[in-house]
Amino acid sequence: MKTEGSARRGRLTTPHGDIETPVFMNVGTLAAIKGAVSSMDLKEIGCQVELSNTYHLHLRPSDKVIRKLGGLHKFMNWDRPILTDSGGFQVFSLASMRKIKEEGVYFSSHIDGSKIFMGPEESMRIQSNLASTIAMAFDECVENPAPRDYVERSVERTTRWLDRCRKEMDRLNCLEDTINRKQMLFAINQGGTYKDLRVLHARQISGMDMDGFAIGGLAVGETHDEMYDVIEAVVPHLPKDKPIYLMGVGLPENILEAVDRGVDFFDCVLPARNGRHGHVFTNSGRLNLNNARFETDDAPIDSTCSCPTCKSYTRAYIRHLFKAKEMLAMRLCVLHNLHFYNTMMTEIRDALDNGTFSEYKERKLAMVRGKL
Ligand code: GUN
Ligand code: ZN
Repeated sequence: MKTEGSARRGRLTTPHGDIETPVFMNVGTLAAIKGAVSSMDLKEIGCQVELSNTYHLHLRPSDKVIRKLGGLHKFMNWDRPILTDSGGFQVFSLASMRKIKEEGVYFSSHIDGSKIFMGPEESMRIQSNLASTIAMAFDECVENPAPRDYVERSVERTTRWLDRCRKEMDRLNCLEDTINRKQMLFAINQGGTYKDLRVLHARQISGMDMDGFAIGGLAVGETHDEMYDVIEAVVPHLPKDKPIYLMGVGLPENILEAVDRGVDFFDCVLPARNGRHGHVFTNSGRLNLNNARFETDDAPIDSTCSCPTCKSYTRAYIRHLFKAKEMLAMRLCVLHNLHFYNTMMTEIRDALDNGTFSEYKERKLAMVRGKL
């Protein structure tokens, strides 16, 4: 593993192959990347790790069904690593009528309103049925801003939940009929924007036997500088030899800044979501392909890009597809945006290998801001 300042070039060995870090995980909440992107496409655009959601897959088609079909890898035809989020975030952002108790969370499904309970053990059992490569601990993602005494009590509960997650995952990994008996478990650091609570929690969870450590509860309304401050405060208190994952982040500039502060794993819905709206990332700033100025523009989205879209199609054609409401418009933009993110991570890893990350970072920041 090479380092440059706090930035790190690493490799995580998993039962589904090695993950070269820093890495961006491509989000397929329901075991599919939104925008009609298949698992074959994911390989073509350089995706190393796919991310799916426990909460969504538990509700539909259910983890029992996926287990019966041999687990998530078989189900979606993806043989590289999969990380599943625990439901700890989605229960708080999507479900209604939520009640948090020591044992877990009672809530109503956002699909049919049915009453559901999920606690640490349930989340581990669901993720074990899904048989993902990496399971996430069941946590409470506190909203921002939140009163200090509430955050304090919530973080203490998240630590107790982590202990229950570890025990249940150990038990499940010992069962004969578990699909992936080497399922890994990542802890999640919380504490809102209270840096002392963040550090206290980081130190508590560092002492527990985990395969990796995530920083959660960020990108929920705080400023970018507040987010960078929390990362800088927390990273020194996490184990040096384990991956660090910043959940739900973010824009290319956020990723560059977080890598510089020691983060190894990222995920975000932005490249796929923006792509579905015709908003694309390029090495000369962001573009909105719905704009009239692209009507007769016969250039690719980004002339420096080698993605399947840029190799074959013009901005004018894609703009036409959006106007005509053709699904292909979304697909082409999502492919480009995810390729842009995956390629940026390759560039980051190459720069770290060559000891040129700080120059690369400044140049790429200027590029994505359209200032180069
Ligand atoms: N995704 C983005 N933020 C979070 C978080 O705080 N917890 C979990 N479980 N998932 C997240
Ligand atoms: Zn492209």
